Amino acid sequence: MASVSQLGYIGIGASDVKAWHDLATHVLGMQVIPGDERSTSYLRMDEYHHRVELRPSGSDDLDFAGWEAPDQATLHRVAQQLEDGGVKVTAGTRDEADGRRVIDLIHCVDPSGVRTEIFCGRPINSKPFHAGRPISGFKTGEMGLGHMVLCTPSLEESLRFYRDLLGFRVSDFTEVRFPGGGLRLAFLHCNPRHHSVAFLETKGAPKRINHFMLECNSLLDVGIGRDLCMQRGVPIGIDLGCHMNDRMVSFYLANPSGFAVEYGWGGRMIDDSVWQAEHYDTVESIWGHPELKAMVANMAARAAGSGQ
Ligand SMILES: [Fe+2]
Repeated sequence: MASVSQLGYIGIGASDVKAWHDLATHVLGMQVIPGDERSTSYLRMDEYHHRVELRPSGSDDLDFAGWEAPDQATLHRVAQQLEDGGVKVTAGTRDEADGRRVIDLIHCVDPSGVRTEIFCGRPINSKPFHAGRPISGFKTGEMGLGHMVLCTPSLEESLRFYRDLLGFRVSDFTEVRFPGGGLRLAFLHCNPRHHSVAFLETKGAPKRINHFMLECNSLLDVGIGRDLCMQRGVPIGIDLGCHMNDRMVSFYLANPSGFAVEYGWGGRMIDDSVWQAEHYDTVESIWGHPELKAMVANMAARAAGSGQ
């Protein structure tokens, strides 16, 4: 089956673009580059022209995500897989492809309601990347910009779309059961990064995205980033810890659009020739991430309360 190969770019509908620029530059270490006639601005983290596009749409949510296909033939095969699966696929216009600085793209809507673009022709910036603060850099390359966790009303529908039509492989399922409810997530990969996308099943979520993750080359970058958050008053929603499934050492900070950025280091890599999908019955971390445990305890308490 044809498969996309990495998360190439995302687009965020930011209502406070200046606050995003401040956070990206001074805390995350990304590089802001000016937009064009489309009233956008861009965040760089490597040789890509950009990895994040900020658009003042005011949605304060994930407006689109772009998945890279390695070549035009694969792009067309993925488009066919989507159509065969009953998904309405639209060919991108020349103007849309120019806007993303790619050769060709198609777009459709995923079960989370995210405009999902598949493109070929990696958008390279001829100028070198300059980090916004001293930082060792980001782990991207063939593993893409990082990962994102989306809210979905149906885990099965999201699995069907990403696994069965876009060619992702399952990394693990996480199911936490408690009286009166539960928590279900699925983590999927399309390259050695443990997951490029994951889904949190939830009804009536206020946003399509829960968080996106940037992986640094050094643990020092993460620790210094955490110090900068505290110095600058950036709220930390989940403090330092190490996840069980992807082994990422990370913390979660609030961004100006009201969802989280996970800032991490040391994520696990997957070798598809030997990988077996895993199953977890907890979201608790190996160490740290204390708020995560409290969040699940609160959910369980609410479920138990509503069941009485
Ligand atoms: Fe994450």
